[in-house]
Amino acid sequence: MTVMMESPQQQPGLFISFEGIDGAGKSTHISGLADLFRGQGRVVTLTREPGGTELAEKLREMVLNDPMDPLSEALLMFAARRDHLQQVIQPALERGEVVLCDRFTDATMAYQGYGRGFDLKVLAQLEQWVQADVSRPRGIIEPDMTIWFDLDPAVAAQRLADARIPDRFEALPAAFFEQVAKGYEARANAAPHRFARIPADQPLQAVWMAVRHAVESRGWARGAA
Ligand code: TYD
Repeated sequence: MTVMMESPQQQPGLFISFEGIDGAGKSTHISGLADLFRGQGRVVTLTREPGGTELAEKLREMVLNDPMDPLSEALLMFAARRDHLQQVIQPALERGEVVLCDRFTDATMAYQGYGRGFDLKVLAQLEQWVQADVSRPRGIIEPDMTIWFDLDPAVAAQRLADARIPDRFEALPAAFFEQVAKGYEARANAAPHRFARIPADQPLQAVWMAVRHAVESRGWARGAA
């Protein structure tokens, strides 16, 4: 006889990604939101891209440090994403968890597409293959919401200047980040319901209030401390 197990987690899974140019200040708010959801009794999977699995973390090491051409870079981002989706993101969503992901495909479009100038149509095709999911409205798995920390590249560069040893991306010139910022803006304009734009050039507490508001106004994590 087959015994049907009732899932203890009745709520549907929730997938939120966090985006912005380097130095926009995502990290504190990602952990803040994790605490907020946990305080509501939700199970949270906190993860990042490129990365989130053993294989994808190896790919991250390479892509952030080893010299390579833009096509290799884009393919490795999507290879890492495929493994991450299959091993971590989709199973967590099926269990009804909240997945908080530091960067996702918008980063590939902004960095490899707008920043590096790689063909956006090819990236869109890769997105269709790698994220294919016939059960979803657009035929692909994508975040339910993307929290975009919008910051002037000049301010971001200033913030990063003394912060740490730059990786391959952080070491790129201001003109690159101008393009990346344009990429995020274009992505946000193309998917206004998915994107929550957070003006990130304000004190930390004000940014946090905006992040909380974005989540609560969609009926998620309402009334938390
Ligand atoms: P980031 O997420 O900012 O992590 P950290 O805070 O540890 O630096 O760094 C990841 C870098 O990878 C960032 O510069 C953006 C880049 N990136 C891409 O170029 N394309 C992608 O698809 C993703 C996910 C990240």
